[in-house]
Amino acid sequence: MLVGVPKERKDHEARVGLVPSSVAELVHHGHTVLIERGAGVGAGLSDDDYRVAGATLVDGPERIFREAELVVKIKEPLAVERKKLRRGQVLFTYLHLAPDLAQTRDLMASGATCIAYETVTSPTGGLPLLTPMSEVAGRLAPQVGAHCLEKAQGGRGILLGGVPGVPPAEVVILGGGVSGTHAATIALGMGATVTMVDRSAEVLRRLSAQFGSRVRTIFSTRDAVSQLVKRADLLIGAVLVPGAAAPKLISRDMVKIMKAGAVIVDIAIDQGGCSETSRPTTHSNPTYVEEGVVHYCVTNMPGSVARTSTFALNNVTLPFVLALADKGWKQALRDDPHLRAGLNIHDGQVFCAPVAEAHGLSVARLEEAVAP
Ligand SMILES: NC(=O)c1ccc[n+]([C@@H]2O[C@H](COP(=O)([O-])OP(=O)(O)OC[C@H]3O[C@@H](n4cnc5c(N)ncnc54)[C@H](O)[C@@H]3O)[C@@H](O)[C@H]2O)c1
Repeated sequence: MLVGVPKERKDHEARVGLVPSSVAELVHHGHTVLIERGAGVGAGLSDDDYRVAGATLVDGPERIFREAELVVKIKEPLAVERKKLRRGQVLFTYLHLAPDLAQTRDLMASGATCIAYETVTSPTGGLPLLTPMSEVAGRLAPQVGAHCLEKAQGGRGILLGGVPGVPPAEVVILGGGVSGTHAATIALGMGATVTMVDRSAEVLRRLSAQFGSRVRTIFSTRDAVSQLVKRADLLIGAVLVPGAAAPKLISRDMVKIMKAGAVIVDIAIDQGGCSETSRPTTHSNPTYVEEGVVHYCVTNMPGSVARTSTFALNNVTLPFVLALADKGWKQALRDDPHLRAGLNIHDGQVFCAPVAEAHGLSVARLEEAVAP
């Protein structure tokens, strides 16, 4: 199969769909891989690395969209890229179609087969192609939070780990799922005092078993959260109610009584954020101060560590890319119900129920689409 990887063109997006070792794997399986020149540079991967792996380097995205049977990307295609997609072509990438009617319409009009990373499932009920990015964002949160606590960034002038004779920072993490657990691991490693809040007793039990007495676990109630935010130097928002907007656990009044120069890192901002005072920011302008509290609300945190994120993502996407290339998309989807869950759009029809529901469209029958 002819597999193509264009350079990502979204603002500040330096990740790339395939790393050289994934290319080598595809080539070993007998496929041809076209990579746009410079596609990996932002992730520290040179054109030479790709050439050595067996890829064919091409100038610009045109030939890739024209010839590739399978296009592998990171972010959803921009409007200009959507115009280049065509019937018979498979697109494998993050799509996030539910809040994006324009993209949904364009992808339907293209006739292409669009498989979204974020709806591929796993036998344990998780979303395996989303998890690594939550791990990255969670691990980044104490790092960026520690930076924001510095005086020059508007913070309280507190060192996360303290020093002998001076106590460390109080870190409060709302949500003990994937990103919250990874945030706790790093915050503890940096020497902070860590409290975690979740609404699931099961999750609190797991956190307690994992971290022991090094982490305080608190059941999520409005009262508990309002007490904790007063004490927090660094508050990390890591809650998720799947498919829904993030619950607003922190009201503006709570932010008003936080310490001046305290920091909120709202990882959940991509679902609207868990503080009433959160609004999306970018890597070029990541923070703002509201009610005396520094807010870091970057919606694509993993983009700042493009190299780590690219490798983390390739580790989980490669088996699916190989299946699509080796078997063709229909057979690959017939064989794997979890990859099948990734089919969002094919031949002008929508196959993902939440996407169809969000846009008032009907859901097409998967069985017919993947029939031989
Ligand atoms: N900003 C970014 O760049 C970035 C990157 C990756 C993930 N995210 C986002 O981070 C968020 C968290 O993702 P995750 O993978 O860690 O989710 P997850 O499902 O693994 O964990 C979420 C946790 O929140 C808890 N929760 C839900 N409602 C709660 C409440 N009212 N009080 C306390 N806890 C509550 C759940 O019980 C669960 O344990 C998501 O919105 C995800 O999209 C953002």
